[in-house]
Amino acid sequence: MKLIIAENYDEMSRAGAKIMLEVVKNNPYAVLGLATGTTPLGLYAHMIADHEKHGTSYAHIRTVNLDEYKGLPKTHEQSYVYFMRKNLFDGLDIDPENTNIENGMAENETKECARYDELLERLPRDIQLLGLGSNGHIAFNEPGTPFGSGTHVVTLAESTVKDNARLFDDISEVPRKAFTMGIRQIMQAKKILILASGANKAEAVCKMVKGKVTESVPASVLQLHPDCTLIVDRAAAANL
Ligand code: F6R
Repeated sequence: MKLIIAENYDEMSRAGAKIMLEVVKNNPYAVLGLATGTTPLGLYAHMIADHEKHGTSYAHIRTVNLDEYKGLPKTHEQSYVYFMRKNLFDGLDIDPENTNIENGMAENETKECARYDELLERLPRDIQLLGLGSNGHIAFNEPGTPFGSGTHVVTLAESTVKDNARLFDDISEVPRKAFTMGIRQIMQAKKILILASGANKAEAVCKMVKGKVTESVPASVLQLHPDCTLIVDRAAAANL
């Protein structure tokens, strides 16, 4: 795993955007694996700024997202489909038809997981962007998820519900279940870029980088990926 320690959140976001933009500029037909959450917001802002300033085109770019809450409609401000539109897609010339995410409202979970598995087979990712859960999760693959997993529905860990409650009016409104891409599929991306910032990620960063590769720390699997870059800010790097 290649490690870059940035001074702060903005430097981390800038360095991350540089890697993402290299992929887009080298291949206008690239498939990008994308993440939601607070971590990638700065990187997405840099992508939009670059599009406005340099005209980098996303007309033929395709995207697949990691995960989506179960039971939130597309119009809900905390749904990840809404998040992606608001924080990235609306600022680019991307065709909404070329963007993909699990359908959190799907009635048949098994069918929806099979649809996404099939989609991921058809769209091998040139790069997969990841954030890191404070409990070591990647996407919503919580501790204990088998490394061989495909798309599945997960019951969120209590710590994840607490971490994400900041974005809802009340913790009782945080969905307890989500669809998530599996660890096997994350590992299939040609290149992985994982970002982490803030002191509350320091322990998970240390376990991911220096700990043993174990399903109890899902992110530790990234030690086995041939082309994975981790960019952390100073606070998240504190235990390294
Ligand atoms: C989001 C995702 C999650 C987040 C992680 C960190 O699509 O898959 O794994 O990346 O929970 O969240 P933030 O960035 O909000 O700290």
